[in-house]
Amino acid sequence: MDESMQIIDDQNTLINVVKLTKKFDDITAVNEISFSLKKGEIFGFLGPNGAGKTTTINMLTGLSRPNSGTIQVAGQDCTKNPKAAQHLIGIVPDESNLYPELSGFDNLCFCASLYGMFKDERQKRARQLLESFGLTDAASRKFGGYSKGMKRKLTIAAGIIHYPQILFLDEPTTGIDVASARQIRQLISDLNNTGTTIFLTTHYIEEAERLCERISFIVKGQIVKTDFVKNLLQPLMGKQIMLISVSKNPADSSRMLANGFPDYKFQTVSSGQIRIESVKPINLGQLVRFMEEQKIEVMEARRLVPTLEDIFVRVTGIEAGILKKEAEKKGGAA
Ligand SMILES: Nc1ncnc2c1ncn2[C@@H]1O[C@H](COP(=O)(O)OP(=O)(O)OP(=O)(O)O)[C@@H](O)[C@H]1O
Ligand SMILES: [Mg+2]
Repeated sequence: MDESMQIIDDQNTLINVVKLTKKFDDITAVNEISFSLKKGEIFGFLGPNGAGKTTTINMLTGLSRPNSGTIQVAGQDCTKNPKAAQHLIGIVPDESNLYPELSGFDNLCFCASLYGMFKDERQKRARQLLESFGLTDAASRKFGGYSKGMKRKLTIAAGIIHYPQILFLDEPTTGIDVASARQIRQLISDLNNTGTTIFLTTHYIEEAERLCERISFIVKGQIVKTDFVKNLLQPLMGKQIMLISVSKNPADSSRMLANGFPDYKFQTVSSGQIRIESVKPINLGQLVRFMEEQKIEVMEARRLVPTLEDIFVRVTGIEAGILKKEAEKKGGAA
């Protein structure tokens, strides 16, 4: 049975999405995706450009109507009534929606007024958020003059002005400097620790691994895998992994090595290197001597720490470096 169907009645389920589809003319941007979000978790969508991450967020937050499928938020059917759960959710879009001509403080006060907060309350909330996001000194400066990192922080502050139960963050650390990205990950983590459920999208595998409890790999509008990060990593736990470069054809070398070392698993990867996986310790000295006897030189050997990157490559068939390059193209440094 579909995973989402199993937990639909679970009291801890905050969002339940079943077979959600969005088409733009002949493009199926999101294709029958199903998943659910549990209260209090950080859930991540990890996928390359055009995978359908933003389209999914837009549908979940009522900004775009799905062609088919259902969205339930806190038991409310948001497919029929997109506004039903609006007060429960906060949105941080990938491109900021704040006003460049207004100051940081005024932007926050304006957002608060949209949620019906009174003047005293909204000013207090704005000051408190500016303080906790380290933006007090920039409070009276125009938003348009903020750095990218500051802009992102203020956009997050605006997204949580009304104390939402669920926060949607579309690529929260793409396009900003390393230090700001680190601060933002900390802010997300702090928000989650105080009870906010988080849905985020990212290009960064390490970010998904570090921040999220569960993730979905999304590729070409489809979810190819959803699981707890710790479960995804499980197959690699206790294993040793090594990457070696050799002076001769890696496929032939791999076959030779497999004959000599039946306890290890050898795989030629797209970079032309050989990936070695083993439950027993990998004896590099033995490998090098064996290869020397075959007149093959081991040019480089690198031990790998088992990470989600390895699993992502295995599950999606996409080389992990591609995601990184895409994020860098968007101006990222995280
Ligand atoms: N308004 C639109 N009109 C036409 N096509 C669209 C529209 N919005 C999205 N698409 C298409 O839908 C697909 C998914 O786009 P989406 O923006 O959801 O991807 P994404 O995963 O957010 O990508 P990125 O990592 O680049 O932000 C793409 O093929 C995109 O071109
Ligand atoms: Mg996007």
